Amino acid sequence: MRRIDLAGIDEIADGEMKLIVVDGTDQVLLINQGGEFTATQGICSHEYFELDKGFLTAGTLTCALHLSRFDLSSGEPIDPPAELPLEVYPVVIENGRVLIEVPDGPLPLSEE
Ligand code: FES
Repeated sequence: MRRIDLAGIDEIADGEMKLIVVDGTDQVLLINQGGEFTATQGICSHEYFELDKGFLTAGTLTCALHLSRFDLSSGEPIDPPAELPLEVYPVVIENGRVLIEVPDGPLPLSEE
């Protein structure tokens, strides 16, 4: 396993999200909902589209391109056209920083 430092806990306000580049090219979406941080893959599992342009509602993220909603705890799509779940990365808070814990090797991503 390896840990990737994404941001300070005060860099993303409650109700906001930010796309963060990791490993040079991959993108992770960091979301703050009520002080709880969630990290998902930054690009939609349906087509190549940045998820920080989408909309947050209680526990879900809607992709702005074709309006699939994803459950933020499981990553599962709630409605079409997306069929694959988003990768959701385990978050660790340490010394005021938000990190994700991922397997060694390339960042897990799901894409159609
Ligand atoms: S690109 Fe996200 S639903 Fe199509």
